[in-house]
Amino acid sequence: MAKLLLLNGPNLNLLGQREPEVYGHDSLSDVVQRAHQKAAQLGHQLEDFQSNAEHELVNRIHQAKQDGIGLIIFNPGAFTHTSISLRDALLGVDIPFIELHLSNVFAREEFRQHSFLSDIALGVISGMGAKGYELAVEAADNKLTEN
Ligand code: DQA
Repeated sequence: MAKLLLLNGPNLNLLGQREPEVYGHDSLSDVVQRAHQKAAQLGHQLEDFQSNAEHELVNRIHQAKQDGIGLIIFNPGAFTHTSISLRDALLGVDIPFIELHLSNVFAREEFRQHSFLSDIALGVISGMGAKGYELAVEAADNKLTEN
């Protein structure tokens, strides 16, 4: 059993209402609930946190170290493309993480095709919609039980 942390960044609280043609019709609580179910099925404990504020996400990453989180699943929203402080926080706590996006950021505007996080992530799930959250929990389970 491992402790997982699911982090969601800015504007993901609007999931379901926000650009549904890009991000789908499920709300954040729908996708988070399914991620909880998947984690429980696989015998893991999942915590979740969403914030629109960069410093709150940084603080939650720091807290993850004290809480014994084994792996972070992170949809950083637009901070993906801008945030060196989130990169530094993840490097600082040295907790492995999976970068997650609902949309395929590589098929969108050029500014979304650069991530400050991908090169230090275990892997990236992008373009699988809401299903990506469950896939990320499965990928986390695979990584944690690999050895
Ligand atoms: C996103 C992609 C980002 O470019 C965007 O800013 C988001 C959501 C996604 O899940 O597809 O807010 O991370």
